Amino acid sequence: MDKAIIIQNLVKDFPGTRALSGVSFSVEKGSIHGFLGPNGAGKSTTMRIITGLMPSTSGEVTVDGRIGFLAENPPLYLNMTVRDYLQFVLEIHSQNFKPIYKIDSAIEKCGLGSVEKRLIGNLSKGFKQRVGIAQTLVHNPEIIILDEPTVGLDPKALVEIRNLILSLRGDHTVLLSSHQLNEVSLLCSHISIINSGEIIKSGPLKEMRKTFKGQQVIEITVDRWDPSIDQKLIKQFDLAKVEWDNEADQPLLRLYSRSTNDIRPELARFMLDNERHLYGIQQVETNLEDMFNQMTR
Ligand SMILES: Nc1ncnc2c1ncn2[C@@H]1O[C@H](COP(=O)(O)OP(=O)(O)O)[C@@H](O)[C@H]1O
Ligand SMILES: [Mg+2]
Repeated sequence: MDKAIIIQNLVKDFPGTRALSGVSFSVEKGSIHGFLGPNGAGKSTTMRIITGLMPSTSGEVTVDGRIGFLAENPPLYLNMTVRDYLQFVLEIHSQNFKPIYKIDSAIEKCGLGSVEKRLIGNLSKGFKQRVGIAQTLVHNPEIIILDEPTVGLDPKALVEIRNLILSLRGDHTVLLSSHQLNEVSLLCSHISIINSGEIIKSGPLKEMRKTFKGQQVIEITVDRWDPSIDQKLIKQFDLAKVEWDNEADQPLLRLYSRSTNDIRPELARFMLDNERHLYGIQQVETNLEDMFNQMTR
């Protein structure tokens, strides 16, 4: 099959909360797939179900290959050396099958050669995270699942860990979660966006950028702050929303159009009809950040 993971209609109930309400998406083999969503959206829950650490309430997960998993707060043994810890993890895996011995290549790939004999507890956060990633590689899995692998890293370690993740491409399928769109768009070829236990969008990043280009954001500069025209604008132009930019020097209104028609000429007329002075009007390039914000609000 050309999918590494297929998730169908996953539901997870915790006492008093439905954490996942029918999550479906699939992960292409060989892709780096970003699982994007705000805190509490259901990312960790989904990942724990995929890895078999937690049962679902209902739904189905199909996985084609062995999995290496880095949990959100990786349970490293701080009083073990890097090499002993990786050996230990490999031995746990060996109880299920005879793994190919990958410790040396995991150490090399993760740049741990200079610290392999040191205690994990004495390493910096960035190096601890490298050990966490190395630990996903020792049994040579086809699929690597990383739950928010860059949270809490300093800027230098952040770049190093991101590069390490990129270097996994080709040899592995990677599913990584993040609440940062910027990170996902740097690393991933595909994304699935989750909010409140539901998938909002899923697919190749390229296609998402394309479909979103169809919508426009228009900024107009006017003579005074006046939210009383908001509703009128929304109605007349079928807008998704309007927002006043409080940080702009001049009263600036941002309109999120649902259509691809150019509404600028009609907008100029509208302002005139409503006795407003229009000082500027421009179409702004929409970016994925806007898309994400609109979808997860
Ligand atoms: N063990 C648990 N018991 C009860 N509720 C939980 C448990 N784990 C997660 N949740 C709830 O499920 C929802 C999704 O959580 P989680 O999957 O951790 O989100 P994310 O990883 O996207 O931040 C949240 O509302 C969270 O409070
Ligand atoms: Mg989480």
